[in-house]
Amino acid sequence: MKKKVAVLPGDGIGQEIMEGALDVLKAVGDWFGHSFEIEKAHIGGDALDTTGMPLPDETLKLCKESDAVLLGAVGGPKWDRVPRHLRPEKGLLAIRKELDLFANIRPVKAFESLLGASPLKKEIVKDVDMVIVRELTGGLYFGKPSGREETNGTTAVDTLTYKKSEIERIVKKGFELAGKRKNKLTSVDKANVLESSRLWREVVDEMAPKYPEVEVEHMLVDVAAMKLMYQPKQFDVMVTENMFGDILSDEASMITGSLGMLPSASLRSDSFGLYEPVHGSAPDIAGKGKANPLAMILSVALMLRHSFHLHEEAEMIEMAVQEVLNAGYRTGDLWAVGRGTVVGTDSMNKLVVERLEADHALSSILAAYL
Ligand code: IPM
Ligand code: MN
Repeated sequence: MKKKVAVLPGDGIGQEIMEGALDVLKAVGDWFGHSFEIEKAHIGGDALDTTGMPLPDETLKLCKESDAVLLGAVGGPKWDRVPRHLRPEKGLLAIRKELDLFANIRPVKAFESLLGASPLKKEIVKDVDMVIVRELTGGLYFGKPSGREETNGTTAVDTLTYKKSEIERIVKKGFELAGKRKNKLTSVDKANVLESSRLWREVVDEMAPKYPEVEVEHMLVDVAAMKLMYQPKQFDVMVTENMFGDILSDEASMITGSLGMLPSASLRSDSFGLYEPVHGSAPDIAGKGKANPLAMILSVALMLRHSFHLHEEAEMIEMAVQEVLNAGYRTGDLWAVGRGTVVGTDSMNKLVVERLEADHALSSILAAYL
């Protein structure tokens, strides 16, 4: 298979974690005989510094010409004072909107060997395997501009708007995914307060009869936040609007032990997608070689699975990550409470690539005997 991948490392640790992820992609390509053509472009603060815009036209054009996009992270204190329409985060929001990436899939899976790295009790996080489906191109993130100028800075407004059609397409994703997993869908909203949430609930109830095998429940977002800490195993697929999904996914990352472990896929209605870690640019540790590259590496696996339908290849990456963790290697974020050998970004990358190469060699030997 031949595919073109647009690579946008972005800011902070985005640059460091992307290098290793590309090595992993190459190792899998060599193993299975695929060639991935890589072309890099700027986004976020990095793009602002080099071109004056957080999402330059060339970057968007490259993404549109590619089969998938890999993104590191955007933002940092360096750009805190730039006008709001030029903020690095605007580049990220714009690319999501321009490419119509409305479905953000965030799997949260507890790795057996990392149970001790979670601040939650082992018996609570053991066997957690859930997916947060976050609406990504609507809601508060894309409201009308604030009223700051008109009111001399004394009032600020953010608007939360959802069209029925926007809710329908993301809720459908939730049902479909639940149907492929454990047939349980939790729709998270704030219907006791927000009108947009009441519309959301109506859409879920309207669609439910089309998926009779899926058990559906509605849950208020505050309750969902509590249950994620108290009994996360009860969840299979959780579908929710943009801002709630943003907050709940950071919270859920603690089940895995670190925000540095969570990958994500942002999908359009076809197989095109953008793949990025859930974490941000971590400016405090950027350039120090300490960042956990696993969320980025696991995002490569999601790209292979969702955009290229290369399921075995994706599984091999996930297995290599698991094997490296089982062997006791940990980046600093996971070391805090866990036990093992502390390694930096490059070593962790190398360990995963070596694992893949070793698994590849082993599979060739086995194939020769079969
Ligand atoms: C995320 C990030 C972004 C978001 C920021 C960087 C704009 O937190 O992908 O979760 O809020 O969507
Ligand atoms: Mn976030």
